Amino acid sequence: MPRTEFISTGFYVPERVVRNEEFTQWMDTSDEWIRTRTGITERRWVADGQTGSDLAYQASQLALERAGMKAADLDCIIYCTLSPDYFFPGTGVFLQRQLGVPEIPCLDVRNQCTGFLYGLSIADAWIRTGQYKRILLVGSEVHSTGMDLTTRGRDLSVLFGDGAGVAILGPTTDEKRGVLSTHIYADGRYAELLFSESPASAHNPRISHADLDAGKQYAHMQGKEVFKHASTRMPQSVKLALESNGLTPQDIKLLIPHQANLRISEMVQKLLGLRDDQLYNNIQRYGNTTAGSIPIALDECVQAGRLQRGDLLVLAAFGSGFTWGSAAVRW
Ligand code: COA
Repeated sequence: MPRTEFISTGFYVPERVVRNEEFTQWMDTSDEWIRTRTGITERRWVADGQTGSDLAYQASQLALERAGMKAADLDCIIYCTLSPDYFFPGTGVFLQRQLGVPEIPCLDVRNQCTGFLYGLSIADAWIRTGQYKRILLVGSEVHSTGMDLTTRGRDLSVLFGDGAGVAILGPTTDEKRGVLSTHIYADGRYAELLFSESPASAHNPRISHADLDAGKQYAHMQGKEVFKHASTRMPQSVKLALESNGLTPQDIKLLIPHQANLRISEMVQKLLGLRDDQLYNNIQRYGNTTAGSIPIALDECVQAGRLQRGDLLVLAAFGSGFTWGSAAVRW
């Protein structure tokens, strides 16, 4: 059976940079509060009319170019997002249409911050069994169109940013390379702790005027609980990725944790005893881009030459659901 290799990566973030200071014109907050609690200094926001599939398209074009491939060479799209362009159809088809590759299957994955790892797990299974040979795996989000920019929403609106990252995956017969393992988990007992309640088919009407007045169209989070679970589940997932491959933290060349909060990443680093050079963070510049965060960070590392053939890369994520997981990859 072949293994799954990363053929190429790409990312795209919108041009508009929103620095922490900008939030002070809308709500009671400060650059100091945001930086010290989260590590974030700025994030990107889409222009009017720019969609998640538009961001994904730009990132995909870059990855295709780097792979020396045309869109027609793809045989499947897996599109991970918590902020789909529309309720339905899934966003993968809008990307497929822009890429001009009708008929290839488009699977939308809805596992929030762990979306990219759920998508990788599916892609890996399909590639190893020979179902598909060239999979475009996408993590793309637009948060800025759904933010409560008043003091009521300050705990969440300062955290998130827009952006897309992609990877093109295919089979390799090189036994020393490729995806070694993926581990994915979920626990619905905590579903409402990081939650977007409306609009939803669970209510009739899906959203009412009263809901809008109450701000139910905005996500809600119990930040401390999320923080607590994230900072235990992420290191646990990394340990599992290592142990299941007979590896130790010292073997890691690069750990890319989902970029939820710099304090969470620091906790993961400390619990695993990793040096600074073994871990990558870019939340300072992009905020939390949910399913986009791992592939954006991965592409930055690849372009900076931080991964050489055979290096051990570990990816780990935690998010709404709760969902969490990890992947171990020989680059
Ligand atoms: N600016 C200023 N004050 C803010 C604020 C903001 N943007 N957001 C919240 N506050 C206030 C709160 O209202 C609260 O005020 P109070 O004490 O008067 O009630 C105070 O700051 C402390 O809030 P608290 O929620 O206790 O802060 P915290 O130390 O838990 O940090 C987070 C808040 C959001 C940074 C933190 O909980 C976190 O990072 N959680 C995980 C988030 C995450 O990773 N989510 C995505 C998962 S994938």
